[in-house]
Amino acid sequence: MIQILYRSRQKETLDKDVLNFLSSLNQDINILNYDILGTQAHCLMLNKIGILTSDELSKILSSLSKIKYESKNKGIIQNLPSNNELSLSEDIHELIESLVIQDLGIDIGGKMHTGRSRNDQVVLDIRMKVRDDVIDICELIIKFIKSLIEKSKEHTNTIISLYTHLQQAQIGTVSHYLLSYSFNLLRDLERLSYSFDKINLSPLGSCAIGGTAIPIDRNYTASLLGFQGLLENSIDATSSRDSMIEYLSCLSILMSTLSRIAEDFILWSTSEFNYIELSDKFSSTSSVMPQKKNPDPLEIIRSRTSIVIGMLLTSLSLVKNLPSGYHRDLQDLKPILFNSSTIVKESLLIMKGITDTFKVNKKNALHLANKSYGVSLDIAEQIVIKYNIPFRKVHKLIGTLVQHAVKNENIPLSQISKDDVNKILKFTHIKIDLDELMFILKDTTPEKSIFFRKSYGSPNPMQQKDMVKSIEKSLLVYCKLLSRRKELLSAALDNLEKVIILNTIGESKKNNGG
Ligand code: ARG
Repeated sequence: MIQILYRSRQKETLDKDVLNFLSSLNQDINILNYDILGTQAHCLMLNKIGILTSDELSKILSSLSKIKYESKNKGIIQNLPSNNELSLSEDIHELIESLVIQDLGIDIGGKMHTGRSRNDQVVLDIRMKVRDDVIDICELIIKFIKSLIEKSKEHTNTIISLYTHLQQAQIGTVSHYLLSYSFNLLRDLERLSYSFDKINLSPLGSCAIGGTAIPIDRNYTASLLGFQGLLENSIDATSSRDSMIEYLSCLSILMSTLSRIAEDFILWSTSEFNYIELSDKFSSTSSVMPQKKNPDPLEIIRSRTSIVIGMLLTSLSLVKNLPSGYHRDLQDLKPILFNSSTIVKESLLIMKGITDTFKVNKKNALHLANKSYGVSLDIAEQIVIKYNIPFRKVHKLIGTLVQHAVKNENIPLSQISKDDVNKILKFTHIKIDLDELMFILKDTTPEKSIFFRKSYGSPNPMQQKDMVKSIEKSLLVYCKLLSRRKELLSAALDNLEKVIILNTIGESKKNNGG
C-alpha cells in the first residue's frame, strides 16, 4: 500500500480532494529527468559510503533508468491509471520512490531515500532545470542579437525619425535603433549569465533542514551532477529561493526589453507610420475586415511580459512571509519558474523571426523625416559651430522659423522665403549672414544630418560600425562563457551516465539473461 510509504503516522489515507489540491504531479513532468539523475547520483554516493551494496545500487540504478525510459515513451505521469495506487502520489519524488519500491521491494528500494529529504531534493531538481533554462535563454538572446546586427548592416544609412514623447525628435537610422536593442539585450544577457553562478550550486545532502547523521559526501554528488559548488548551510539550502527570484527578475527585465521592441515594431507597422511591413508569416488578420494585417505576435509578447512580471510579483509575495525552513507554499514557485522560462524562450524565438523577416519602407521613412522638423537641432548646431553664438539664442531663432513654417502649411524650413528668414533674423537680433543661413537651412537634410553628428554613440554610420564591433566583441565573450558552461555540464552528465552504466552492468546482464 503506497500511501503507507510516507504516511507512517497517519492511520487514514489522504482525502481525495485534498490530494488533488496538494499534488504537484502534473507540473513535476518538467523535473522528472532531473529528479532521476539526482537520485542516481545520490545512490552512487550511498554505495560509496557503504549504505547500498553494489548489487542494491545496480538494481536501483537500472530501475530508475527504466522509469526514465518509460516516462519518455509512455508518459508515466500522464498515463497513470486512476485506479492505480501510485496515482495517489503527491509529487514526482513520492511517485519515483514508490515505483522503485514496487519494482524492487522495500528492502532495496526503501534504502534510496537515506540521508536526504524531498526538501533538498526538490531544490536540486529546480536548480538543475533552471540552470539548463538559463543556458537556453542565453543562447536565444545571442541569436536574437545576431539577427539584429545582420538586419542593422542592411540599414546603416536608412533614415528614420527618432522620437521623444512620441513626437518626432531627431533624425536617426534604422540600424541605430536595432543596435540600441542589441546593447540592451547584452545587459539582459549579462544579468542572466551572472545569475547562473548562484543557481549552479548543489543543495543535495542538506536533508530536511538540519543535515544528517549518515556520513554522506555532498561534494561527490555535487560533482557528479555538474555543480560548481555547494550551498554551504542546510537551512539556507532548503529555505532560500532568492536565486530563483533573481532569475525571475532577470526574465522580467528581459521581457520588458522585448516588449519595448515589440511596441516600436507595432507602431512602425501602422499605416500612419508605415516604416516597416511584417512578414505575412508573422501577422494575423481579422475575421471581418479583409484588409487587416495585425501584429498579433508582437501584441502577445507585450501581454506575456505582463504575465512574467506578475509571476515575479507572485513569487516575491509567496516567500516574503515564510519563516525559514521548507513550507508547501514553495511548491507553487515551480510552475511560475517553468512557465516564465517557456514564455521567454518562445518570445525570443518570435522576436528573432520577426526581425529576420520584416521589410523597411525606406522611401516612406525618408519622406516622413523630410516632412518633420527633425533637423532643427542640427541646423541650430551648424550655426553655433560657425558663429559661436550662444545656443540659447539660436534655439530662439530656429524655434521662430519652425513656428513660421508650421503656420504656412507645414513647409520645410528650407522653403521659407529669404525675405521671411531675414525678418525673423532681425526680430531675434541675431547677427549672422543671411545667405549663409539660407545655405545652412537648405544644406541640412536628414541624410546629411547623420553625418554632421559625430558624437560617440550617435547614428553617424562610422559610430555604428564601431558599435557593431563592440557588440560582436562582447558576444564573443558570452559565447565562450556559454560553451564553457555547456562543456562542463555535459562532461559531468556524460560521466554520470558512464558511471551509471558501469554500475548497472551486472543488472542489465541479468535482465538480458547474461
Ligand atoms: N512537491 C514538493 C514541492 O514541490 C516537494 C517537497 C515536499 N516536501 C515536504 N516536506 N512536503 O515543493
